[in-house]
Amino acid sequence: MTIAVENPGLGSRVEDKKQSSDLAQNGGHATPDAAGFAMPDSNAFGQSFRDYDGSVRQNTVEECYRLNHVNQTYDFVKRMREEYGKLNRAEMSIWDCAELLNSFVDESDPDLDEPQIEHLLQTAEAIRKDFPDEDWLHLTALIHDLGKVLLHEKFGELPQWAVVGDTFPLGCAFDESIVHHKHFKGNPDHKNPAYNTKLGVYSEGCGLENVVMSWGHDDYMYLVAKKNGTTLPSAGLFIIRYHSFYPLHKAGAYQFLMNEEDKENLKWLQTFNKYDLYSKSKVRVDVEKVKPYYLSLIAKYFPATLRW
Ligand SMILES: [Fe+2]
Ligand SMILES: [Fe+2]
Repeated sequence: MTIAVENPGLGSRVEDKKQSSDLAQNGGHATPDAAGFAMPDSNAFGQSFRDYDGSVRQNTVEECYRLNHVNQTYDFVKRMREEYGKLNRAEMSIWDCAELLNSFVDESDPDLDEPQIEHLLQTAEAIRKDFPDEDWLHLTALIHDLGKVLLHEKFGELPQWAVVGDTFPLGCAFDESIVHHKHFKGNPDHKNPAYNTKLGVYSEGCGLENVVMSWGHDDYMYLVAKKNGTTLPSAGLFIIRYHSFYPLHKAGAYQFLMNEEDKENLKWLQTFNKYDLYSKSKVRVDVEKVKPYYLSLIAKYFPATLRW
């Protein structure tokens, strides 16, 4: 079955690719700065990250956010969760998925001279070095972006605005800290009195698990992990599900939605995030050398084959 999404109008495939890698940089997290992102100073080549013509890049990224902010509604997310929650698109192992992602995501990324899988392993290995006993965290780092397979034709080839970028809650008012906030004026929920108050459909301290988040690779990978019966601890699932929720973990918005468990898990997410942002440079990882370790973690926390 195909999900009806409004034509994103993102232009040619080539431009899509470029934008994909652009937003996918830093794991698809766009943290607001002058140009729409915060990032380390240099890439693997010692040059500035995202060395496109500044205005062109900014326009492309902003257009993606405009589409995101107009189209991500409470009803849209409900439909996507229901449809993708069926997990009827593929059967494969975690490692197979990493290889699938590797095969198509980063072809035009100007900041990477290595495959996506090395980026994931760089993050995981950096965390492993500093937290050697937290094996669940190593694995969480490896898999946190696998939901980007939503960009693949096998998964409906979803447009960028439905896969990457910062995430935010639906069903309550859009916080001012969300990047390119002005574009929410085109979102039907913005005018809906049921959804446009501070609490909206929620109650104070209701817990993030009861909150509908904008649809993308975070929530999809969470659904995959959860529904396939992962034994990852709650903090691992929290990282996977909310790692693009910059309005919360960077700007401190929406704290009133958290319960006590969320507050504990948020500490791990903030730790994780430092590695996710700064791992994309310099140190090469020998994939074949570390692969047996990660395969053993996958075997510990996941079934051999997962439904996607
Ligand atoms: Fe990500
Ligand atoms: Fe990431």
